[in-house]
Amino acid sequence: MDVNLNVSGKLTALQVMQDAPVIPVIVLSDVKQAVQLARALVAGGIRMLEVTLRTPQALACIEAIARDVPEAVTGAGTVRSAADAQACAMAGARFAVSPGYTHAVGQACRDAGLPLLPGVATGSEIMMAQEDGLTELKFFPAMQAGGPAMLKAWGGPFGDVRFCPTGGVSTANAAEFLSLPNVVCVGGSWLTPSDAVARGDWAQITALAQQASQLARKAA
Ligand code: 3PG
Repeated sequence: MDVNLNVSGKLTALQVMQDAPVIPVIVLSDVKQAVQLARALVAGGIRMLEVTLRTPQALACIEAIARDVPEAVTGAGTVRSAADAQACAMAGARFAVSPGYTHAVGQACRDAGLPLLPGVATGSEIMMAQEDGLTELKFFPAMQAGGPAMLKAWGGPFGDVRFCPTGGVSTANAAEFLSLPNVVCVGGSWLTPSDAVARGDWAQITALAQQASQLARKAA
């Protein structure tokens, strides 16, 4: 993690990406687990946390982490509408991640003061996000949409864009993604295996976070 980063202030999308090599993609349905999980990840050196809006409890989990784990920076993932952006900002999310991009989501995040990492999988989507001033983007779903080869190809026409590949990224391929000059960090769910979360194995999650936080990267 970037020890010089003041995590209580307003962040840019680039700061969110630069803080650690991996942004964990988290699915939570229990507020108590949320706080313990966040503490376990922070103990392993990972504090930018993407809590996906995929469960009815997701907003309450974001709220609990924001309140009880001030050393973490909670973001919301799976932000698909302006209403999602407003709701997660109200809950205390400090950044937003979306699986795709629309101007409405971009505008809502700007209005709410949330840095946004929007998902893109095509050149046209990159151009649409760039039209709205966004140059830090999530490549989603990274493996399914072309993997490292796609990012290499985009490095030519979109040399000014920095990516966070997410979707199908794992310990087996994270290093390859992170060796690319246009990849600042990767996203993935492997830091928070659902069985470890269910049995409260926070030591395992801290160990996974430690390994992830030590991955080398070329950019950032
Ligand atoms: C997601 O949105 O679920 C993320 O892309 C995580 O994908 P993964 O489970 O393949 O890491």
